[in-house]
Amino acid sequence: MKNKFYITTPIYYVNASPHIGHTYTTIAADVLARYHRYLGDEVFFLTGTDEHGAKIAEKAAEAGKTEEQFVNEVAQEFKLAWQTLNISNNNFIRTTDPKHMSAVQAALQFMYDRGDIYLGKYEGLYCRGCEQFKNEKDLVNGLCPDHKTKPEIMSEETYLFKMSKYGQELLKKIKTDEIKVRPEEKKNEIVSFMEREGLQDVSFSRKNVRWGIPLPWDKNHTSYVWADAFLNYLTGLGWTGPQDTQPAMWPADAQLMSKDILRVHATIWQAMLLSLNLPTAKELFIHGFFLVDGQKMSKSLGNVIAPQDLIDKYGVDATRYLLMSATAFGSDGDISWKKFDEKFNADLANGLGNLVARVSNLLEKNNITIDIKTGAGDFKTDYAAAMQELQLDGALEIIWKILRLCDETLSARKPWELKDETEIKKILEPVAQDILNVAELLSPFMPETAEKISRQFSEPQIKKTEPLFPRI
Ligand code: MSP
Repeated sequence: MKNKFYITTPIYYVNASPHIGHTYTTIAADVLARYHRYLGDEVFFLTGTDEHGAKIAEKAAEAGKTEEQFVNEVAQEFKLAWQTLNISNNNFIRTTDPKHMSAVQAALQFMYDRGDIYLGKYEGLYCRGCEQFKNEKDLVNGLCPDHKTKPEIMSEETYLFKMSKYGQELLKKIKTDEIKVRPEEKKNEIVSFMEREGLQDVSFSRKNVRWGIPLPWDKNHTSYVWADAFLNYLTGLGWTGPQDTQPAMWPADAQLMSKDILRVHATIWQAMLLSLNLPTAKELFIHGFFLVDGQKMSKSLGNVIAPQDLIDKYGVDATRYLLMSATAFGSDGDISWKKFDEKFNADLANGLGNLVARVSNLLEKNNITIDIKTGAGDFKTDYAAAMQELQLDGALEIIWKILRLCDETLSARKPWELKDETEIKKILEPVAQDILNVAELLSPFMPETAEKISRQFSEPQIKKTEPLFPRI
């Protein structure tokens, strides 16, 4: 029987254009989706945009546009960026889609009817940058550590979600890995947070935010933007609300995100699922946060890198490679143009590109035909283990080890100094076989390059082609 594999990225806020943080998550999800398709799994890969809330309404006003106009434009930028990067998502969900909105209303109504949502009052701090409620304890010198802004004081009538009811059950599920939170240290963080503070009821509606989904039973309130957003993981599968049957792809097998939104995913989202009588997610995978030259990306610092900036300089596949190999998947990473340039030249121009060029050149020049087979050889097991553990950079490491071994063989045996065709063939045939194997393993990461190499090295008479990665 085919395994199913449902993988999601967060849906990105449209208050900003896509940058390499979003791009990193999306490419990683794409690599995993492509890998699972290659394994023969039935894959559904979802991404999209998060389009409601005060923050976005504010941005639209600043731009002198209506909210609709504004969100349409930015959502289009995300779609386009992912198309350019060869992202193989099966659906692109937008929270302003009327079908999503009516499912959200049905879900909230269901939760309200069963007594999990009740009218109350929220008094406390709110960070608009996070669109999250804050404790004094979350702040550093009175400021939100992520946005360096002072949270506003909120005091208003609100509908609250009875999250406290699900605290114990969730804690147990996370502890026993029924909801797997990875890497392990992130699991420990969330477990100790839940043990220390328990789960409090959470405000689920806003009275003063017009740009949101109205609560069906009280139109003076709109849905809290996160409640609306989380349900994308269901509506993106075509779910129309609790009256509907559970989508075949649910629960999600891997939900990727970075640490800024782990807490809400491990608590509010899972509690909502319990309230909706649906299974919780199988795995939340938390990858690291990117810094640029040691600093957080921000408009005011002017160090935001857009995916198109990278594509213009390095091309699509190299951009995918540079991001995936930039840091151990799961750890924070510091990136810079200088490091990207160096890595491009070392791994792609001088590494993979040069090897392919040398080998195909020698084969063509000496008119050697060879017999190679498809199938990725012995290293497949290590590679599969790395991919299974979501060690994406580790999988790339394995591939580059093979490439280095090929280079060493060539340097040691110098086929270009030989005259005897049989001798040359003896050296080049296994190397060509390795190159073809590498192409197979590389295909989730660099689909176009892998395809080019596979085509080139599947011919009995291999011919040289244009260089894959001209040096920068
Ligand atoms: N809209 C919410 C998510 C709702 S999901 C139901 C949101 N959007 S966001 O636009 O701020 O995107 C957050 C996600 O973008 C992070 O979880 C991460 O996946 C990615 N990244 C944004 N900046 C990043 C870095 N600097 N580094 C790595 N990834 C980060 O939160």
